[in-house]
Amino acid sequence: MLIRRSTICCARALRLSTHHHPIPMAVPSPLSTHLKPFSSFCHLFPCDHDFKLFPHFLSSSCFASPLSSLSSPKPNRRSKSPVAAALLEIGGVKIAKDDVVRESDPTNNVPDNIFSKIGLQLHRRDNHPIGILKNAIYDYFDSNYASKFVKFDDLCPIVSVQQNFDEVLVPADHVSRSYNDTYYVNADTVLRCHTSAHQAELLREGHSHFLVTGDVYRRDSIDSTHYPVFHQMEGVRVFSPDEWKDSGTDATSYVAMDLKKCLEGLARHLFGAVEMRWVDTYFPFTNPSFELEIYFQENWMEVLGCGVTEQDILTRNGRKGSVAWAFGLGLERLAMVLFDIPDIRLFWSTDQRFTSQFSEGKLGVKFKPFSKFPPCYKDISFWISDSFTENNLCEVVRGVAGDLVEEVKLIDNFTNKKGMTSQCYRIAYRSTERSLTDEEINQLQWNVRETVQSKLYVTLR
Ligand code: DAH
Repeated sequence: MLIRRSTICCARALRLSTHHHPIPMAVPSPLSTHLKPFSSFCHLFPCDHDFKLFPHFLSSSCFASPLSSLSSPKPNRRSKSPVAAALLEIGGVKIAKDDVVRESDPTNNVPDNIFSKIGLQLHRRDNHPIGILKNAIYDYFDSNYASKFVKFDDLCPIVSVQQNFDEVLVPADHVSRSYNDTYYVNADTVLRCHTSAHQAELLREGHSHFLVTGDVYRRDSIDSTHYPVFHQMEGVRVFSPDEWKDSGTDATSYVAMDLKKCLEGLARHLFGAVEMRWVDTYFPFTNPSFELEIYFQENWMEVLGCGVTEQDILTRNGRKGSVAWAFGLGLERLAMVLFDIPDIRLFWSTDQRFTSQFSEGKLGVKFKPFSKFPPCYKDISFWISDSFTENNLCEVVRGVAGDLVEEVKLIDNFTNKKGMTSQCYRIAYRSTERSLTDEEINQLQWNVRETVQSKLYVTLR
């Protein structure tokens, strides 16, 4: 996100009012067509858990009205392709590929390779670092709050714009709403870009202690700590007046203190005795808002965002007179540190040499790299057009090269006397699993050049 990129992905926070750009919401994605490098369903992990955790909530709100047809398959449109006939089911909601990826719809910018991640739910695999971390956080909350926190980890990632933004008070002109930053299924429906999207609905349902874990989706640049799909956990605790009335402090201070105590305990549970500090920040949904940083390998690392929930959110959702805290943390960011995982793409690896290193309940086992192939760098230079964005470039590169691309980095940028701007990007190709041949890389680069030229309206140099 442009809002402010943190040093490591996955907690790219939705914040900073100072960066509001006026964004014309009806602007269609410049990527109105998408590449199709992968077969979308072949990797799908079967959802072997009980979908019906919260069926009423899901069936009523997972899809806004424009997608109400989602739960009833459209056999005619899909009959030709065996891939398109497959249906995903998440949290009791059926999802067909052509409900989510619609090349001809200018309000849709979800490419195939993103769709192929929906339903994989790494956070629900007990032997996967993301699932192991989720369970360790659950353990902390269970033992410190007598299992009071209700856990949701199967809520559908396709949510309305209202859930993702409006209900958590993200301003209408906030940059995170742009097609450049968020995956839109259509003008009213997105792939959630944070688990905060479920806060309001769960409050309305009457929950006062809950954790929501899920996959979240953001258009972004490419490097070893940024991937367009990652996992977050959201936590919310609501207090009633009798909980703070005898505390001798005002409700907000009481709740902020409780929040900090809870999250410091969580950090110690995960990292042991670490140095920590609190930094004041801004989120649209909390006031005051904070970030927790821990001192790790000689750097201060931001691990989560949190704060005292805006009164408006509580009032609008039937909790007038209450006060609450909320937090959101990026699981990849923490898992990379806890398990020594050097590249975010590895989380998606199905290579046994990766998967066999982790097992249920074993937090902090250090990952042993099984191969280290050198990256191969290729540069691409072009004159950009007004609509060019780095996120769009990354989407194209990811569409062509998939997980073989490690990084896309701007290395040169200049504007000539005529006002034309040239940019040069260096693409690092590297597989986490095997060595790539020169021929393969040249072919990828050639495809990237072709696609960049045809889809991004740039002039190659
Ligand atoms: N939703 C924020 C993000 O994605 C993270 C977050 C920050 C969640 C503060 C919260 C919160 O609940 O209170 O960057």
